[in-house]
Amino acid sequence: MIIRKRVHSKLNKLDQNQTPIFDALMEYHKRDTIPYHVPGHKRGEGMDNKFKDFVGNNILSIDVTVFKLVDSLHHPTSSIKKAMELAADAYGADMSFISIHGTSGAIQAMILSVVSEGDKILVPRNVHKSITAGIILSGATPVYMDPEIDKNLGIAHGISADTVEETLKAHPDAAAVLVINPTYYGVASDIRRISEIVHSYNIPLIVDEAHGPHLGFNDRLPCSAMQAGADICAQSTHKIIGSMTQSSFLHVRSERIDIRRVQQVMNLLQTTSPLYPLMASLDVARMQIATKGKELLDKAIDLAEYVRTEVNKIPGLYCFGKEILGTPGSFAFDPTKITINSRGLGLTGYEMEQTLAEEYHIQFEMCDLYNILAVGSFGDTKENHDKLLTALREISAKHYGTKPEKREILDMPAIPELAITPRQAYYSKKKKSVPLRDSIGMVSAESLMAYPPGIAVVNPGEIITQEIIDYVQALKDANLMVQGTEDPAVENIKIICVE
Ligand SMILES: Cc1ncc(COP(=O)(O)O)c(C=O)c1O
Repeated sequence: MIIRKRVHSKLNKLDQNQTPIFDALMEYHKRDTIPYHVPGHKRGEGMDNKFKDFVGNNILSIDVTVFKLVDSLHHPTSSIKKAMELAADAYGADMSFISIHGTSGAIQAMILSVVSEGDKILVPRNVHKSITAGIILSGATPVYMDPEIDKNLGIAHGISADTVEETLKAHPDAAAVLVINPTYYGVASDIRRISEIVHSYNIPLIVDEAHGPHLGFNDRLPCSAMQAGADICAQSTHKIIGSMTQSSFLHVRSERIDIRRVQQVMNLLQTTSPLYPLMASLDVARMQIATKGKELLDKAIDLAEYVRTEVNKIPGLYCFGKEILGTPGSFAFDPTKITINSRGLGLTGYEMEQTLAEEYHIQFEMCDLYNILAVGSFGDTKENHDKLLTALREISAKHYGTKPEKREILDMPAIPELAITPRQAYYSKKKKSVPLRDSIGMVSAESLMAYPPGIAVVNPGEIITQEIIDYVQALKDANLMVQGTEDPAVENIKIICVE
């Protein structure tokens, strides 16, 4: 296999200026076609003005259904097929699939394409819930790998290559390995080395690249999954680059993955009524990143670095950058990510996020106990960044030195033993709720998550231990967050009744 090491755009064989899905819709619009097809609003004509007056007619005019001119997502033969080939060419894949169910849908399809009932799949413990859903749907047996925890920041970084190597040695019968590249906070592990390790077992490396659709288009960014030689990766194009929410790509290499099976799985999971403007926006976003990505990303990175430098001058705030690299789970960093740690102000990330939203009308992407996360992108401007910096300076001036620093982060208990698969636990009809303190030795039917660092303490199918119960109590005592059970107070947990 050729491992593409350079930026993707230098490798294109196709003319990346093309936008076949968007062009087909423009042709339909230009013809002023009379619609006797769904959707029933008929190019906006039958829609109430309340919505139409705000969104405008154009988007409604290209909200169409499957017919020859615009092609079919389930059986692509013309414009959609061409758009998939262009995406594969742009990203260095053999085929790219369009997901209109976001990366969650793409991840479920990715897992169902590589593992079946009883197969072992290695996954990080801090996975997104769509991965757990894929594991439940497939019936696979998860083998969890501990990510590296950054106690200072209170977040989980990547999985180290050594962890992958050791886990594979212990489970040489694994059918696939899944890693996250990069994390929500933009930290990536050594995915090239991981790829070599996984492929030495001749099994596929599958990647949750929700936060990496821009990787590979600028040398200042971490290596992309496809550049590292991964076999399949799901990307939230909508999260970081220019497409509309819910539109994602699933990129596939054919050496270890059956591309026809992937199409079948996508057809099994996806609606037969995809939103064409969504797919067109994905098509245009691919054109944009492939043809202008380098310059646009340079601008986004420069602006994010400006914010980072300025935030680090504000008392009580810290925005990490490349200085955190060098530990096992943090090999590379995406500088477009702006994580602001507010521990030094004695404020939680939740308090910071709410203050910014309510008092300054600045909405962050995510917050956790100690941090707020801003996603940097082509859409940023220096003017907006300056408004953010002014707000942060004001918040610091108000709070710095008035409260003690928040410090707590507790060591996680060991990953518990799996008694039955997550699928068996999910579908079990024999569940009941018991007090958590009485649940030692029982099989959990629920997940329990600890924040920070956002990692499952127990997952469905796992055996609850004394250590877990003590840890949950310690989290509560420290006013840290533990959640996931049906009982919001986490006094009770659902377990599987064993005869
Ligand atoms: C790491 C990770 N994977 C997968 C997803 C799911 O992506 P989507 O929202 O596009 O379904 C997310 C969403 O936040 C995520 O953070």
